[in-house]
This record gives sequence, structure tokens and C-alpha cells, in this order.
Amino acid sequence: MSAKYPRGWFVIGFSDDLEPSEVRPTRYFGRDFVVWRTESGEVRVFDAHCPHLGAHLGHGGMVEGDSIRCPFHAWGFDSTGKCTDIPYSSRVPPKARVGSHPTLERNGTLMMWFDPAGGAPEDYVPTLEEFGADAWTPWMHRMAIIETQPREVVENVADVAHFPNVHGNQVLSFEATFDGPSATQATRTTGYDKRGRLTEQRTVATYYGPAIQFSEMDGEYPTVILNAHVPIDENRLELRMGLLVHGIDYETKLGRTLGEMWIDALQEGYFQDVAIWEHKRWQDQPMLCDGDGPIDELRKWYAQFYEAS
Ligand code: FES
Ligand SMILES: [Fe+2]
Repeated sequence: MSAKYPRGWFVIGFSDDLEPSEVRPTRYFGRDFVVWRTESGEVRVFDAHCPHLGAHLGHGGMVEGDSIRCPFHAWGFDSTGKCTDIPYSSRVPPKARVGSHPTLERNGTLMMWFDPAGGAPEDYVPTLEEFGADAWTPWMHRMAIIETQPREVVENVADVAHFPNVHGNQVLSFEATFDGPSATQATRTTGYDKRGRLTEQRTVATYYGPAIQFSEMDGEYPTVILNAHVPIDENRLELRMGLLVHGIDYETKLGRTLGEMWIDALQEGYFQDVAIWEHKRWQDQPMLCDGDGPIDELRKWYAQFYEAS
């Protein structure tokens, strides 16, 4: 793998994380960006630093209509990144612009496209039927900054043998399919619910590209879970968890409390993995055995995102 970071779509927030005219500094892929929303509601991701004298647009930049103005000398950049206005100059240098990165707001999430080679975005992120549908809650979501690298997060789903030990459930069946930019695991597991009853759970979890996974789980209350990460640098990432639940009334206090307990429990499950990831080392040549799950296939599938498109 020559590139440091994979190519693809990355979730950088939920829609309700960013208001119109809001400006946020961020750091992803070892680089600085400014994430902002135009007054009319479009999300934009620009390189952070102004081409003039290098101020960070995310620290004090102001949105005006569909433009952002630098906090230092007030140069204005339109929503494509082109400088269109310098308040004290009659002429705008024709090449004055700030780098802009493709964005996508879908399923109530904010995404950016990142390709170290600068390739055009691909269209593989599905539209979820459940998002915004009747009897489904809105996203309940959490974000955590953790010290690990993306490969560990992605590999977790193919690592069947860790389920009983780390998560306390038994895998009854497991099937993985790899198809272009998507990788799907269909699993049946057993576990115990809060009343100590043995339950069986079916989950179909699909990665769309290197960093966005939706899992559909059946049961009395069907759920959709979003598991997404975006690298901050080579050793840290933002991990996002989102949960949609069918059949609880999120408008009521009880429903909302139930939902919040649910997402907290989900986060607890993720942190069972995080506790391992933050201290393990990456094993390039793992010593595998029967029963380990399709770790090799998963690695081959994931390598495609590091190759130039
Ligand atoms: S540094 Fe941005 S306008 Fe001068
Ligand atoms: Fe896990």
C-alpha cells in the first residue's frame, strides 16, 4: 500500500451537527480543512488556509450568502473556492482560489470525498429507505476520537473469532461477500438480553467503500446502525456511530430515553473493540488458523482503495 490513506467517501458529521452559516475547523488525512454551510444550506469542505497570507478560514471565517470570507484581510471565496471579492483591491488575482473537496449530504450524514490522487468521486453510497421513514427514529449518534488506524476498524467485521471473547455473543453462522466497493457480512449470533434471556440476532452489515458501514438488524425493534470513521492522521480517527430504531416513539420522553440508552449500549459495544485497538500493533503477516474468518479476503478487498483509480 503506497498511499497513506484510502480513497473514498468519509462521514464527517451528521446533518444536525452543522447549521447554515456555521464554520468548523477540522483536520483529516493529516491536512487542515474548513467545513462550512452556505446560508442556503449546502455543505462545503475547503482546504483550510487562505491563498493570500495563509490564515485558517475555519478560525473566524464568516459566511455571507454562498461565500466565505477570510478572517484576516476579508477576501471572499464563493462556494466553488474561487476568490470573487477583495474589499480593498479593484482587481482579484485570476488564480486566487482555495481548494474545494466534493461533498455529499445523504441519509442525514455529511460526507466528503478524499482521493490522494485527486480522482473524481464515485457514486456508491446508497440512499437508506429507513432514514426519515414513518415509525423510524431520527439518527441518535455519537462520535469518539480514538487512537488506531482505519484498517483495524474495517477488519473487525471479518474477525469472527473475537465475537464471543470481546462482545459476549456466539456466532451461529457467518457469510461474507465482496463485490466491487462493497463488502457484506451476514451473521446470526446469540447473546443475552437485559433480562438474561437467550436471543438470536440476524445482522446484515455492508461497507460501502472503505469507511461507511450500514448494518440492518432484525428483532422486535428493527434497527439500522451506521459505523463510520475518518482518519485524522495516521494514528487517530474519528469514529461515528448512528442508530435508527423502528417502533419506538421518539416524540415521547420515554421513547427518547430508551433510544439514548440504546445508543449508549451500542457505544459500549464499540468501546470493547477500542480497548483492544488502542493498544495492539498492526500485524501485517498475521498467524491465522481455521475458524478465523475471511481476514485475507477482507484485506484484499480493502487494498483496492489504496490503489490509484
Ligand atoms: S490571509 Fe486571507 S485574506 Fe489575507
Ligand atoms: Fe468487534
